[in-house]
Amino acid sequence: MGPAIPAERTPSMELVRITEAAAIASAHWLGHGDNTRADEAAVEAMRRAMDEVAFNATIVIGEGERDEAPMLFIGEKVGRGDGPAVDIAVDPLEGTNLVAKARPNAIAVMAVSEPGGLLHAPDTYMEKLIVGPPAKGKVDIDRPVKENLQIIAQSLGREIDDLAVVILDRPRHEKLIKDVREAGARIHLIEDGDVIAALEVAVAGTNLHAVMGSGGAPEGVLAAAALKCIGGEIIGRLKFRNDEERARAKQMGIKDENRIYRTEDLARGKDIRFVATGVTDGELLQGVRFFARGARTHTILLDGRMGKVRFINTQHFEDPAKPPVVRI
Ligand code: FBP
Repeated sequence: MGPAIPAERTPSMELVRITEAAAIASAHWLGHGDNTRADEAAVEAMRRAMDEVAFNATIVIGEGERDEAPMLFIGEKVGRGDGPAVDIAVDPLEGTNLVAKARPNAIAVMAVSEPGGLLHAPDTYMEKLIVGPPAKGKVDIDRPVKENLQIIAQSLGREIDDLAVVILDRPRHEKLIKDVREAGARIHLIEDGDVIAALEVAVAGTNLHAVMGSGGAPEGVLAAAALKCIGGEIIGRLKFRNDEERARAKQMGIKDENRIYRTEDLARGKDIRFVATGVTDGELLQGVRFFARGARTHTILLDGRMGKVRFINTQHFEDPAKPPVVRI
């Protein structure tokens, strides 16, 4: 038995409906080669679904600043407005490219916490080191790659050459890739999608053991929310691409640009829930399946406060009055 549910808490199934809606909408654009349409579909569906939900929510991580995003922009108030106040981090479609090309591991994702529980991260890069629960508290982003790999291997009771490290396949990671290979570990290069990769390394049985390299800082907050619920760790440091990003971060109150952020700094909330629905197939989540008069979605819901992980397999009827054949 976990702690008592707070008096006012948006039911988790209402949160699930939000990422389900975004996933279904964007999955219609699978393989169309059109990142923008896939993303827009997810954003619009997610925003619409939020209007129905009993919360009084503020977007802290979203589609960008108010002047650059028509909806789900940072600071936007969403929800029916009659429920508890919460902060929300979203990526309606994490892996736009993956949907456009019908590649695995695209998700619709959201994290929810009590106000102030999720860092308002600037839209820049973050250098990340992500590990599962056994290596939590032991690795250090400033250590040489080989030392961190030794620590991770030790924590898992294996040799370095049995490790697999997830790295975004980018020219900026050339040196990192070389270092990991020289240390003897294996590499799982991904095209996109380091949020689901964070979950994969925190879950046993995926045969992935760390995420290294730089990806989006907002994605770092989403990953932190998930890791906080299931016990892994992210260590990150912002990496600005230019002075404009640096100035924007300063405006947002980031004083020390070399600061190291840990899971708790990125997701300090006490009542964090993380929800992700598969858009394309992946190791943890199946992608959206369409069938006659309906669709099926697969969602992971992490509830840190209640100590629960739920995998939710939902069949959606196009018209409840004309149910499709229900499949197992
Ligand atoms: P999008 O969904 O915005 O396309 O981002 C996907 C992603 O791969 C993230 O998972 C990752 O953190 C970031 O982009 C990496 O950025 P970049 O593509 O600029 O290297």
